[in-house]
Amino acid sequence: MNIYYPSKNIFTNDHTSSIMEYGVITASFFLVSALAIILQVFFTSPISPDLLDLPPEPSSHLFTPNNHLQGVIKLGEGILNKPEGLCVDQKGMLYTATRDGWIKRLHTNGTWENWKKIHNRHTLLGLTITRTGDLIVCDAEEGLIKVSEDGAMTALATHINGENIRFADDVAEAGDGSLYFSVASTKFGLHDAHLDMLEAKPHGQLLKYDPFTMETSLVLDGLAFANGVAISSDQEFLVVCETWKFRCLKYWLKEEIRGKVDIFIDNLPGSPDNINLAPDGSFWIALLQLTSSRMKFVHSSKAIKHLLATFPKLYDQVNALDKSAMAVNVGSDGKIIKRLDDPSGEVMAFVTSALEFNGKLYFGSLKNDFVGMLPI
Ligand SMILES: *[C@@H]1O[C@H](CO)[C@@H](O)[C@H](O)[C@H]1NC(C)=O
Repeated sequence: MNIYYPSKNIFTNDHTSSIMEYGVITASFFLVSALAIILQVFFTSPISPDLLDLPPEPSSHLFTPNNHLQGVIKLGEGILNKPEGLCVDQKGMLYTATRDGWIKRLHTNGTWENWKKIHNRHTLLGLTITRTGDLIVCDAEEGLIKVSEDGAMTALATHINGENIRFADDVAEAGDGSLYFSVASTKFGLHDAHLDMLEAKPHGQLLKYDPFTMETSLVLDGLAFANGVAISSDQEFLVVCETWKFRCLKYWLKEEIRGKVDIFIDNLPGSPDNINLAPDGSFWIALLQLTSSRMKFVHSSKAIKHLLATFPKLYDQVNALDKSAMAVNVGSDGKIIKRLDDPSGEVMAFVTSALEFNGKLYFGSLKNDFVGMLPI
């Protein structure tokens, strides 16, 4: 009779142990999977990250978001594919480079013209018009390209010290005809721009192209994603923006202190992209959102940086660049005068440049299919 009890007990024990076994197998499975992911991230992560110092929480009213950018008038809607940079010529014609490899321009009568097809890539970035009327555009794969008034194209700065120039980002002409331009990153390309920010090591440069010797030289090295470049109205200094350092540097051009570097503005309420000189001598800087609440914790963990760098789809989940827009007007003394936002990105998002002329402000973007215009 008793014989059944042990067998029941054995049965019970069997059941328990099979649950336990199942548990152990499941746990092992997850452990092995986690280990595999960690190993994959460790061995395939394209970055060797540092942590990023974020600017202190702002206090002044100038840092309170408004919705002024939601009032823009849309110019060229549907025909401008993500117009990143903007510039204006002596006659008041506005130029932009679009993701389809075109330079398009807005005549003063309000008509857009497909002016010059550069190539079939989406790598054209910042641009400027020289005093002699040539257009210079940065190409993230080829360096600087010159387009003369008659439409002839010339490759200008393509190499430095025998190496190809990659990721040329923005350009400005100094009074002596030199072209100063930024290289956002010497390590990562345009497609991997986010990796430069995740890595948070300064791979950017400021270069100079001399039109007389036709040579390119290094001006500043070790910049944190060198982006917008502008020259002061008195030609005394140049400003170069360091995107993920939330600041812009002042590089002195005037004779006595030529080459000296100061901070022009730091602790910006966003990450500076392009910068343009305004008619009154102040500057307009477009600011990107690299520190949304979701991104903040990314900047504080190397493991998460590795994870996001390895799995681009995960990065897309936290990236907030295309969720809002901001631009600030900064005096030549480096003080913020005005701030314009579209905090929800309802009308404009990912605004990359702001340009003022003839009493109007124009905005380029890597999200929208138009140039925004705001009367001042
Ligand atoms: C605007 O000006 C351009 C250049 O002069 C011309 O080609 C175009 O036809 C003009 N458009 C209108 C609507 O007047």
